[in-house]
Amino acid sequence: MKLLPLIHALVAGACTVLWVTPLAAADSPREHLSLDSNWKFHLGDDWPDALHLENSGTGSGPAAERFADAYWRVVNLPHDWAVELSFDWAADGSHGFKTLGTKYPTNSIGWYRRTFELPKADAGKRLWLTFDGVFRDATVWVNGWCVRHHEGGYYPFREDITDVVHFGGQNTVAVRVDATKSEGWFYEGAGIYRHVWLDKTAAVAIAPDGIFVCPQFGNNPPEGPATIQMRASVLNQQQTVAVAEVNWRIVAPDGKNIAEGGAHQTDDLAPHSETEYNREIGIRSPILWSPENPRLYQLVTTVSVVGKIVDQKETAFGIRTVGFDPTNGFLLNGHHYELYGTCNHQDHAGVGAAIPDALQEFRVKKLKEFGCNAIRTSHNPPTPELLDACDRLGLLVLDESRLMGSDSENLQKWDDQIRRDRNHPSVAIWCIANEQFMVQDSPEAANVARVMQDYVQRLDPLRPVTYAAPEDDVFRGINSVIEVRGWNYHYGPQMDRYHAAHPDQPNVGTEQASVVGTRGIYTNDPPHGYVAAYDLVWPGWTTTAESWWSFFAGRPWLSGAFVWTGFDYRGEPTPYWWPCVNSHFGILDTCGFPKDVFYYYQSWWTTNTVLHLLPHWNWPGREGQEILVQAFSNCQQVELFLNGESLGKQAMQPNSKLSWKVKYTPGTLSAKGYDAAGNVIAGTKVETTSDATRIQLVPDRQTILADGEDLSIFTVSAVDTQGRAVPVAQNKINFSLAGAGKIIGVGNGDPSCHEPDTYVPSVPVRSLPISDWRWHLAPVPHNHSMAPEYASDFADETWTSLNASTSGGDATIKTPDTSAIYRAHFTVTEADLQGAGVQICFSGCDDEGWYYVNGQCIGESHDWQAQPIFSIQPVIHAGDNVIAVGVYNRVGTGGLNRNVTVKIIGRTSVPPWSRSLFNGLAQVIVQSTRDAGEFKLMATADGLAPATAAVQTQPCSPRPFLP
Ligand code: GAL
Repeated sequence: MKLLPLIHALVAGACTVLWVTPLAAADSPREHLSLDSNWKFHLGDDWPDALHLENSGTGSGPAAERFADAYWRVVNLPHDWAVELSFDWAADGSHGFKTLGTKYPTNSIGWYRRTFELPKADAGKRLWLTFDGVFRDATVWVNGWCVRHHEGGYYPFREDITDVVHFGGQNTVAVRVDATKSEGWFYEGAGIYRHVWLDKTAAVAIAPDGIFVCPQFGNNPPEGPATIQMRASVLNQQQTVAVAEVNWRIVAPDGKNIAEGGAHQTDDLAPHSETEYNREIGIRSPILWSPENPRLYQLVTTVSVVGKIVDQKETAFGIRTVGFDPTNGFLLNGHHYELYGTCNHQDHAGVGAAIPDALQEFRVKKLKEFGCNAIRTSHNPPTPELLDACDRLGLLVLDESRLMGSDSENLQKWDDQIRRDRNHPSVAIWCIANEQFMVQDSPEAANVARVMQDYVQRLDPLRPVTYAAPEDDVFRGINSVIEVRGWNYHYGPQMDRYHAAHPDQPNVGTEQASVVGTRGIYTNDPPHGYVAAYDLVWPGWTTTAESWWSFFAGRPWLSGAFVWTGFDYRGEPTPYWWPCVNSHFGILDTCGFPKDVFYYYQSWWTTNTVLHLLPHWNWPGREGQEILVQAFSNCQQVELFLNGESLGKQAMQPNSKLSWKVKYTPGTLSAKGYDAAGNVIAGTKVETTSDATRIQLVPDRQTILADGEDLSIFTVSAVDTQGRAVPVAQNKINFSLAGAGKIIGVGNGDPSCHEPDTYVPSVPVRSLPISDWRWHLAPVPHNHSMAPEYASDFADETWTSLNASTSGGDATIKTPDTSAIYRAHFTVTEADLQGAGVQICFSGCDDEGWYYVNGQCIGESHDWQAQPIFSIQPVIHAGDNVIAVGVYNRVGTGGLNRNVTVKIIGRTSVPPWSRSLFNGLAQVIVQSTRDAGEFKLMATADGLAPATAAVQTQPCSPRPFLP
């Protein structure tokens, strides 16, 4: 247990003012550049031999430095190709029935390529390439050099690529992503679904994730001055010793330098070394961070060598204490703080796992609307920008690792996660794993848990550690060593027994609820996969919102809990299976539209006056039948009315809800909420609407930044002649966009909807396999000079006939230092030439080749493993065309390899966007371009009046990026 603030005494000397120099980031050579835009993407593993293990720097196919990717699709990151795939009942339902995984090999491997220029002036700098997250296995080449193979879909990885880049030239990053394997039992996406960065630094610079800032207090609850302990790891990547100074400056939330900040020290850094600098600075009257007051300080760390600034980095941090106490539960800034938490996967309608930063912010705000003050990043390390949003907007975070392990690989990942995330004030607790059913009670699991927990002590001594245990009164294995006992379900008397038996161990509800409900649905409907949203349906291992919360609310020692889940997510369709493709656990659906249970939590987790009635009141055909009506409210009493006539007043018990059975008559169902003195303090109504007559479009923000990343998220609904939203409307709506924006995804929260979430451009490709070849041993020029045999009209009838699909491995050239020429014909039509291009794809030749079409040289290759692709549209014509390849076999046997294909590439077609309303609602996510101005979203549907909504895109400086 950590009642941490008590332990750490203020170091008085550290509070002394040293000196403060105003420094501009522009003085530092560090550049942190986004590499998100303009990737080329190809789905399918058409180059299984791209990775060469025999030779360095020789990746082939798309892994090679030069490769014809002109016709690949352009994508911007974050990108999740799984969300683009279709559904199939035979696919893995727990992952959302997407056609991904071992059964669908052609959909499970993707290639990304990106080129960028580096100025000559960068020579001497260090270059770091960072991937924040790729699902799942990634192999990365830079200029043909394989620089990294990374497994694991949720961890960041980074390489120093300085040695293999071209300063003063063009550089190519190629990434092969294999998403065949899954890690979880929920939708996980596929591809480069988080940001990619290129960092340029001097040779003496702050190490990646090399800053740690840790506020401490001398007393608990924290009062008076705080000590800010700072660590900076400095790399010297020079061949020579460096003498470096590190200076710190703290900027308060109001933007002012804090006078008493500042420190420096001097040391010699050995060549190729990493050195940690430490210092403490006192802050006399710190503003404490909390979800209600998320005020951020900035630490500015500067490294200088011989008086010259060589690096500067800003780190946001908050000043607060966290701890868990066996009696008082979670403590924030020394006081009990009830965790009103939700667990969440990284998945949103329209975009899947590829959540733009602005959408992270949107989601955090949605959670806060019903009083949520904490999230559990189940079951994996989060996207860094989610933590940024939590720091800024005020949400505590339970930061979870994917798997337990004390092996070096797992500990390295744990290390990376902690170093990356430990400066975020939102992060309140680390979680070593979730539900390790097979091992959790074993002594071995206890050993591993202890090692991971001790590891946290070394890197982040002030944060506690938990494990999400799916067990009741069990004190074995992990539970017996973990600092904070986590409770996944099993609420009830067993918790009291456990607490009585282990009074020194703090507790937290790591996962509770798992109640299911579909937004706007009030009858269970197994064939369609829908569940009534009354907080009455739950799978066997779980319970309703009302029951778990009533239990926790009276037990502060439990610290509160994390509801499974804040948002619905793809996969885990519970309790029904296909055609349902989503979970139903969310308080919000996949778009963030509230379900009724949202108001249950809002009633008991906020101080707002809440009164909400369900269901809607459009039940044609059910006149005279009883309908269950519920009120979610925190008023003392609620009175229900149908068409003005009272149906009775009921007293609300704390943490509960109220129910009535009402015979349906169309009209107005209304309610009044009363306080203890009998005053009306709230009112609400649901009305029977008429049929929908027009579409309504409402953007969540009417002005966004023209930075190519910001979003406006539109709510689409259908209203009747009186402007009332029709809760049962299911119209199909078509969307088009004009101006400075682009639609990136659509959704409607329907857990059984199989309509596309995204409409990607498609390029028709016709493949002509070239197999009828003739060949002949003959000398070939070792340069671009023409041999007579390359000419179109050369008579090759006497040459040996060869089916190229059986050449290559069968080595037509049997002796070293021997050459041969291969010839073949293909025919294209006029229509073929009207498309986007024509390519010829070779699977290589052994060892060197000179390639000609219609007597014109189209390229050459000098590596037997190269699989060159050439664009040939300019040299071909309708009718007969002739390919000729001169091959020189240097050693062993050789020849032209099998599988030569001409690809006729048609024009890109962009399908129109559309989405059906689900129970009255749909969502359209629109992203800005970098052009300031305006965009207009237009919506049309059969039988409804159309709608248009405009959003302004404001000029701004986009974050630094590499074009
Ligand atoms: C839990 C598990 C979650 C989710 C949930 C559904 O046991 O940790 O990932 O599967 O059940 O109720």
